[in-house]
Amino acid sequence: MNALTTSIEGVWPSATAVAMPKNRVAEYYDAIAMDYDSLYGDVFSQVENSIIADRLSEIVQSGDRILDLGCGTGLGRSLLGQGVQGLHYNGLDLSERMIACARQKHRNVSDSSFLIGDMTDLSMYPEDSFDCVISLFGSFSHVPNPTEAGKEMWRVCAPGGRILIMTYSRFSMRNLFDFQRTLSSGGVPSVGEYSIRNSGGQEISSPAHFYTPSRVKSVFEDFDEVSVSGLNAVFELNSAKVSARALKLGFASVKRTMLFEQVLLSRLPGLAHSLVVQGVKTC
Ligand SMILES: C[S@@+](CC[C@H](N)C(=O)[O-])C[C@H]1O[C@@H](n2cnc3c(N)ncnc32)[C@H](O)[C@@H]1O
Repeated sequence: MNALTTSIEGVWPSATAVAMPKNRVAEYYDAIAMDYDSLYGDVFSQVENSIIADRLSEIVQSGDRILDLGCGTGLGRSLLGQGVQGLHYNGLDLSERMIACARQKHRNVSDSSFLIGDMTDLSMYPEDSFDCVISLFGSFSHVPNPTEAGKEMWRVCAPGGRILIMTYSRFSMRNLFDFQRTLSSGGVPSVGEYSIRNSGGQEISSPAHFYTPSRVKSVFEDFDEVSVSGLNAVFELNSAKVSARALKLGFASVKRTMLFEQVLLSRLPGLAHSLVVQGVKTC
């Protein structure tokens, strides 16, 4: 798989110096914050959430200190559920409005705090502060300097701590089939514009990195047992047209399909929309 990825990158080299201004990212998420949760009410998003909730339940234990980077409206806290006792959840996000929504939504959850901040600067946290560092559904893709951010995450993660980080995939089927963009830009860019699913005809977007499995693995190379899997290829390919209602698909059948897809994607996770990186800090 590495050889194939390397040769693809040879054909379509990564962009090197592309500006990713922080204020454009914050402005984008500020603008959609109030509608954010309702934009993800569709069955595909619910299934993705459920698959990630299952993964989290495998790595989070009672009493864990959790850092959720790019927490948005606090989806990570919701997915951790009520089952795990004594959590200490810390959500951090660049967007003031996303954090305002998170605070409102989780106002009755006593074990959680939501702070405005930039995940590329974790200097307020001493080393080994967290048992689990997570960043769900693409937040990490908006970071301009991923290697430094990955090292900061390693620093604040305690020995024995785990990570679960999700990024947008560069060679997702959706990107590969976006012929107009692919051909006009001479390839599938590693840095480009991103608009969230279901955002309809909104003109606004945010700059983002799109990763190959090998690239994202290298960002977290200080961790051990690093694995990369793919989540959601087929439905994301044409999410604007594939309406679950039109296809009369329910939660159970969409989930079965996405789990089956994960087996098929195990050799080529990059074809999925999201890459899911997991790892452990052993010392
Ligand atoms: C696609 S949303 C995902 C939100 C949440 N993790 C979820 O799954 O619902 C991306 C979030 O990352 C935040 N973000 C982007 N860059 C960031 C940074 N450098 N530091 C902290 N948050 C950031 C955005 O403000 C936005 O809320």
